[in-house]
Amino acid sequence: MKIISQIDKMKTHARIMRKAGKLIGLVPTRGYFHGGHLSLMQTARKQCDVLVTSIFVNPIQFGRGEDLEKYPRDIKRDEELAKSCGVDIIFYPSAEEMYPEGFSTYVTVENLTNNLCGLSRPGHFKGVTTVVAKLFGIIKPDLAFFGQKDAQQAFVIKRMISDLEMDVTMKLLPTVREKSGLAMSSRNSYLTEQQKSDASVLYKSLELARELIINGERRPQKIIKKMKDMIESVPYIRIDYVSIVDTTFMKDIFHVKGEILIAVAAFIGKTRLIDNMILNAEDQEK
Ligand code: PAJ
Repeated sequence: MKIISQIDKMKTHARIMRKAGKLIGLVPTRGYFHGGHLSLMQTARKQCDVLVTSIFVNPIQFGRGEDLEKYPRDIKRDEELAKSCGVDIIFYPSAEEMYPEGFSTYVTVENLTNNLCGLSRPGHFKGVTTVVAKLFGIIKPDLAFFGQKDAQQAFVIKRMISDLEMDVTMKLLPTVREKSGLAMSSRNSYLTEQQKSDASVLYKSLELARELIINGERRPQKIIKKMKDMIESVPYIRIDYVSIVDTTFMKDIFHVKGEILIAVAAFIGKTRLIDNMILNAEDQEK
């Protein structure tokens, strides 16, 4: 397994692989691997010839006052885990390498970024789409793997790929969870065991929403109210949003129909957690 920090080297390497007819897969990450990252790498491994994972704590997707400085990092451990998943190359650039003086170009996906995390974290998705576009430009992967854990991110990137005719196929993989149902996240490392166990209420609220829909409830406001009541049974969790949106525009819906995204975000202390469920209302009928 190679570790490449320079953009030029990464480009040259990828070019050689492409010329040799190899199918290149990319798993973009911010490192501090957990089961979610590993499942992306393991699945990607089976679908491509050369597997690249990028580790980059992208400063421009963090807002002021967010956890950029204290975001967990452990490159040695990540190297071991990547190796065990059969990764061929870790692309591990510095912020200076990615954003040299004079850097001025950003990719913005409109509409889909106006709601949910886009509303709570202005500028966040602009940072995500810019770095992902740049990684695609450097590595030119045939396949790129993302997790449903960050569903809005995935839909936004999918839109960018399609709108800008990027020559890459996106693969979306399911959310990997702890036994309790809590979605795995690098930020879970900020939580105590008790908090982790209490945080599984987010997943439970999504399960409750599914139950309600199976039982015929089609009014989003009723579902959202019950989800909020359940989450608020843990008094120290502060809800950021609980929303039900369509999967094309990420807009709040007024009637549950077709493919929908049920999304929650909440704070435990300063730690912001998100989770979601995508379902097709018609498939849920009893
Ligand atoms: P990061 O949070 O490190 O996540 C990297 C990838 O792992 C994303 O596609 C994310 O959706 C996926 N992932 C995270 N937790 C998961 C889980 N529990 N189950 C399945 N997949 C999971 O997302 C980012 O980094 C960044 O925004 C990035 C796309 C790398 C751009 O900087």
